[in-house]
Amino acid sequence: MMRAFLGSSTDVFTLIGVACAAYLSFKFLRGYLNGIKTYFLARSLGLSTNIKRMGSWAVVTGATDGIGKAYAEQIAEQGINVVLISRSLDKLQNVAKEIESKSKVKVKTVAVDFSQGIEIYARVRTELDGLDIGVLVNNVGMGYPCPGRILDFDHIEKMSMDLINVNITSMTMMTNLVLPGMVNRKKGVIINLSSMSAMKPTPMLSIYSAAKAYADFYSACVHEEYKSKGVIVQSVLPGFVATNMSGIKKTSLQVPSPTTFVRSALATVGVQNRTNGYWVHDLLGKLIYEVMPTWLFNSMVMSTMAKHRAKFLRKQQQQSKTD
Ligand SMILES: NC(=O)c1ccc[n+]([C@@H]2O[C@H](COP(=O)([O-])OP(=O)(O)OC[C@H]3O[C@@H](n4cnc5c(N)ncnc54)[C@H](OP(=O)(O)O)[C@@H]3O)[C@@H](O)[C@H]2O)c1
Repeated sequence: MMRAFLGSSTDVFTLIGVACAAYLSFKFLRGYLNGIKTYFLARSLGLSTNIKRMGSWAVVTGATDGIGKAYAEQIAEQGINVVLISRSLDKLQNVAKEIESKSKVKVKTVAVDFSQGIEIYARVRTELDGLDIGVLVNNVGMGYPCPGRILDFDHIEKMSMDLINVNITSMTMMTNLVLPGMVNRKKGVIINLSSMSAMKPTPMLSIYSAAKAYADFYSACVHEEYKSKGVIVQSVLPGFVATNMSGIKKTSLQVPSPTTFVRSALATVGVQNRTNGYWVHDLLGKLIYEVMPTWLFNSMVMSTMAKHRAKFLRKQQQQSKTD
């Protein structure tokens, strides 16, 4: 009797095992084929959104360095005029000259410090007034000086507000400014820079990770609210890119240059509304953030970040001795 019962249940378990294996293989294959379509074929198959059709101007925040500069350059290459918004006037003027000489488009610059809170947006509104803005890249971002627990930082109040203003308030307020025009014209693309650190809560970077999760959720909500009005809102969640913020100078397959990253990410507009932007980051995202158990992720992050912090503090100490 027992044998008969076990016999039939073994068949059921085999069936469940086969069904699970088939489901996982299907999921893997679908992800793999989607990746090939998104990162290698989208542009040539004409699947990517033609951003030039959205309007004659694009606005890029944090446009004088790294990823933002690459977005501004590559958008201008497509014949779209650009408004560059960043802190330093001299950097803005240099990047504007570079873009104007290469791409023969109009470039407007606005120098503002996004850490200053909502007072700055009246001026930004005036500067953007009357422009046919088809693309907004909410790129400006601020990271931690080094990883750490909240109470490890002197001046944590100022640091928290700066992180919130630069990473969250800027995205929200810039969208408020630009969205009405896009909705009126029934077209537009808003690209919001989140981060892989938003894919799982990342300890030792808590405010940054949470701010980037805001960017990711906000993008998904606004996309859903306005897709029927012709507005695409994309959340981009990069891994490491070789920029000032990451502090990584040497590029590699895993750490692309801003130009390589943005070339790949721009082709995903209209194909993926939530994207890692670059195929290696997509693979890493799936492995680290979807497959790895949270307890293992947390313990690895805590120990790696503690090492980074100790290294940073050692360097700082050595520097203060030599000064
Ligand atoms: N690099 C990475 O590995 C990585 C990974 C994931 C996500 N991201 C995200 O990608 C975005 C771009 O990062 P990035 O690495 O390209 O940064 P970056 O190289 O440090 O460039 C930052 C840009 O923002 C401007 N900026 C900084 N603080 C500002 C402020 N308070 N007000 C106005 N402008 C300000 C800077 O210009 P000024 O100095 O002239 O102000 C510069 O143009 C960020 O949102 C970041 O969180 C980056």
